[in-house]
Amino acid sequence: MEKIRLTGAQATMLATLYGKAVDAGSPRSILHDTMALDAIGKIDHDFSKVGMKPGDAATVALRSLHFDGWTREFLAAHPSCTVLHLGCGMDTRVFRIGPGSGVRWYDVDYPDVIDLRRKLYPAGRPGYEIVATSVTPPGWLDRVPADLPVLVVAEGLTMYLREEEGRELLRRIVEHFPGGQLVFDAFSRRGIRMQRMNKPVQVAGARLHWGVDGAAELTSVHPRLRCLDAVSAFDIGGYDQVGLRYRALVGVARMLPFMRRMAVMYRLAF
Ligand SMILES: C[S@@+](CC[C@H](N)C(=O)[O-])C[C@H]1O[C@@H](n2cnc3c(N)ncnc32)[C@H](O)[C@@H]1O
Repeated sequence: MEKIRLTGAQATMLATLYGKAVDAGSPRSILHDTMALDAIGKIDHDFSKVGMKPGDAATVALRSLHFDGWTREFLAAHPSCTVLHLGCGMDTRVFRIGPGSGVRWYDVDYPDVIDLRRKLYPAGRPGYEIVATSVTPPGWLDRVPADLPVLVVAEGLTMYLREEEGRELLRRIVEHFPGGQLVFDAFSRRGIRMQRMNKPVQVAGARLHWGVDGAAELTSVHPRLRCLDAVSAFDIGGYDQVGLRYRALVGVARMLPFMRRMAVMYRLAF
């Protein structure tokens, strides 16, 4: 069993990992992330205390499934490309997707998270690299070859960055690569103000900073950026597979504009 001592933003990935594991163990699994289920069995931690109720698991799985879909679309159109999976946590996207031999895939997260990843998951195929760093300092990106189009996937990351850090990261990526897409979710400023209601964040002792009120705030980072999609987390497909209580909550959230804007999945191109 792996003992862990994660706190702050790093510890929030325990909640998403647990959500995916619970989903994988359910007869009506959405994501089928059996590696997540195996992983929690090897971590010495009381997962009942990560702030993720079993009912939330399906929504975590739906979010990941949505990003898997955008990833698959990009890889189908660009068999030779680079994928930067930022703030990967213990997410097993590279194994779920199984990218082709023309894809260079980088899983990036803080060193203590990567340490756990290395212990619990296989090394992966040639072209797969794990980078143990915060995404905010510039140096790590300089080591990534800039010759291919890039897909940046950042699920559950942007809200942990400060606005200047997030904008600088986007700018640096756009200037580094010839073109590509960035897919990520972001909370609205109101969502950031309401962070006390976000149990996994509170339990982890993490702080949320960057709120985004619409795609224009993102495309303004660089003249090459344009928005392809901005989808409310409540409007993605698959909520018919979640429990009744959640379906009712989502139904209400969809009727309230401020709720629909609270968590948005963006797909930007450059
Ligand atoms: C809510 S978890 C999401 C993990 C994973 N993407 C998922 O969906 O399961 C947030 C992740 O972002 C990572 N993170 C937050 N700030 C970061 C930073 N500045 N650099 C690298 N990773 C960061 C945390 O360590 C954590 O793994």
